[in-house]
Amino acid sequence: MKTVVITGSARGLGFEMAKVFRKNNFNVVISDLNEEKLKKAKEELEKIESDGKVSYTLCNVTKSDDISNLIDFAKKEFEKIDIWINNAGVNQPEKPIWELTEDEINFVLNVDLKGAIMGSKLALLQLQKDGGGAIYNIEGYGSNDAMMLGLSIYGTSKRAITYFTDALAKESQEKNTNVIVGKLSPGIMITDFIVNALGDKEKINLSEKTKKVYNILGDYPDVVANFLVTEMIKNTKNGVRIAWLTNKKAAWRFMTSGFNKRDFFSDNNKYLGR
Ligand SMILES: NC(=O)c1ccc[n+]([C@@H]2O[C@H](COP(=O)([O-])OP(=O)(O)OC[C@H]3O[C@@H](n4cnc5c(N)ncnc54)[C@H](O)[C@@H]3O)[C@@H](O)[C@H]2O)c1
Repeated sequence: MKTVVITGSARGLGFEMAKVFRKNNFNVVISDLNEEKLKKAKEELEKIESDGKVSYTLCNVTKSDDISNLIDFAKKEFEKIDIWINNAGVNQPEKPIWELTEDEINFVLNVDLKGAIMGSKLALLQLQKDGGGAIYNIEGYGSNDAMMLGLSIYGTSKRAITYFTDALAKESQEKNTNVIVGKLSPGIMITDFIVNALGDKEKINLSEKTKKVYNILGDYPDVVANFLVTEMIKNTKNGVRIAWLTNKKAAWRFMTSGFNKRDFFSDNNKYLGR
């Protein structure tokens, strides 16, 4: 039986990916910052029929000791890690660069960039030792050079994640580690991430214009997770980019938006406020 480890997986995309891996009979290790939320997530995951098992442990990806503990924990539970996903991420406050404090900048870079770099480094060493596996990092706004006021530090980290992941894939191949490395591009998802900055420390008030764009281009995380996990399970190649919202799909969404009246921001959205 195969094992997947996902960081930041008590809710949102990470949690939805865990569900799909579970449906595909993987052992699933979820990890996040809050024990209560992890416990609840485990209970929900266990309602899904599967031959695999679910385990959780706390892991703050800004602490490399926590990442090492997560690796040791997964190995102890399930012997070998087959897929490792650096999913944990935070959004930034909606401010221009010069209005962000040094603490706010550090917060975003430490989770979104350094967390994924250390996760990749430590996971690669372990996967290589155990004969191989796969590591995936999550792209986001800015990965393709897009720019928008209020998303520049987040965008800087995601642009760097794209470069970093490509570089890791190249080095992994050159050194014959037997570990494949890839990028996941989830597009826009209607999760707590889009309305919260710096974890859940600060609210983001989305403008009506932004909501309109999200209603056209956005998707619920379960839809995106289903696609990403199906592709990851099939994938055997190094250096891939698995993208949900392709340019073609985005153009089609805008063209047909007059017929598709979606409203993700109604009061009963089960994906927000978790
Ligand atoms: N929502 C979107 O539109 C969108 C779009 C593109 C990419 N992404 C990326 O997808 C990933 C998941 O985002 P999401 O939308 O599910 O967000 P989310 O806020 O719903 O979930 C993120 C999870 O990461 C956890 N987390 C935050 N800081 C952490 C830390 N230091 N250590 C461990 N866990 C931590 C949170 O507790 C939370 O459970 C992120 O990397 C994000 O940048 C999101």
